[in-house]
Amino acid sequence: MKPYVYITRKLPNELVKPLQERFTVNMWKHDDIPVPKDILIEEAKKADALFTVLADSIDERVLNAGKNLKVVANLAVGYDNIDLTTASKNGIAICNTPDVLTDTTADLTFGLLMAAARRIVESAEFVKEGKWQSWSPYLLAGQDIHHKTLGIVGMGKIGETVAKRATGFDMDILYYNRTRKPEVEQQLGVVYTSFDELVTKSDFIVCLTPLTPETKNMFTREVFQKMKRSTIFINAARGAVVDEQALYEALLAGEIAGAGLDVFQKEPINADHPLLKLSNVVALPHIGSSSMETRTIMIQLCIDNIMAILEGKEPKTLVNKDWRPLVRG
Ligand code: DGY
Repeated sequence: MKPYVYITRKLPNELVKPLQERFTVNMWKHDDIPVPKDILIEEAKKADALFTVLADSIDERVLNAGKNLKVVANLAVGYDNIDLTTASKNGIAICNTPDVLTDTTADLTFGLLMAAARRIVESAEFVKEGKWQSWSPYLLAGQDIHHKTLGIVGMGKIGETVAKRATGFDMDILYYNRTRKPEVEQQLGVVYTSFDELVTKSDFIVCLTPLTPETKNMFTREVFQKMKRSTIFINAARGAVVDEQALYEALLAGEIAGAGLDVFQKEPINADHPLLKLSNVVALPHIGSSSMETRTIMIQLCIDNIMAILEGKEPKTLVNKDWRPLVRG
């Protein structure tokens, strides 16, 4: 019997073809509605491989249901939606899509910073809503970006690439990371600081840290209160890194000047969410890596990883380095 592959979102047929030529492939019928948990578990029971997205919670229930499951290929660099411990225990390889999305996500992150600083979305809506009556000296005046101080929290590859973008704007760049990166400091002129110092000194704070038990809710009300009142906070990492209520209160109280958010604690965010009522918040639907080119490459990488594991080869981008295939009876 051919190995069975289940894909949790509808993908273009031409991309899935290499899988279909080798394996039995089944795909959820929607590209924008998540597969219900009970269906996912039923599919996991039959599957040798799962192709998942970050909105799928690949928890103990799913992984334990997958008696034949050998690989989960997740269409994201982040993998906080997956229970890695159970995966490794069950001999399931977890693969992600690092590197291929770095530039695209950095572009979006810097774009979000620019949109929030220069009030681009607010201004575009102003014109479309017919509110533009005349030119005026301070009409929708935002904040300069050039020559300001940028603080990057989470200096992974995307952080480094955002820093590279920022050098073109003559920014002073601070960073905070679990590990210090002397070669990046040399190359880009970025300065390592404590989290507290970064938070106090930066004009723009960009959060790019992965979601882990240590980073969950790291941006509290107290942290926002330490920022300058002119600071703009950007989150392109994971929503749960921020205490959203605290962010809302800080914005409302004028403790910070604005926010650009690509990610939220609960996605999709409800349109009635108080954060979305604030004119100084730019909100995007988690599109960091969403360019046609990059999403296509990410899909291909997931497919390559599935094919590698099912054909007994090394996957290109394995997350759980302690993974060993189970000898199944
Ligand atoms: C990722 O890959 O983790 C991003 O959040 C997707 O845009």
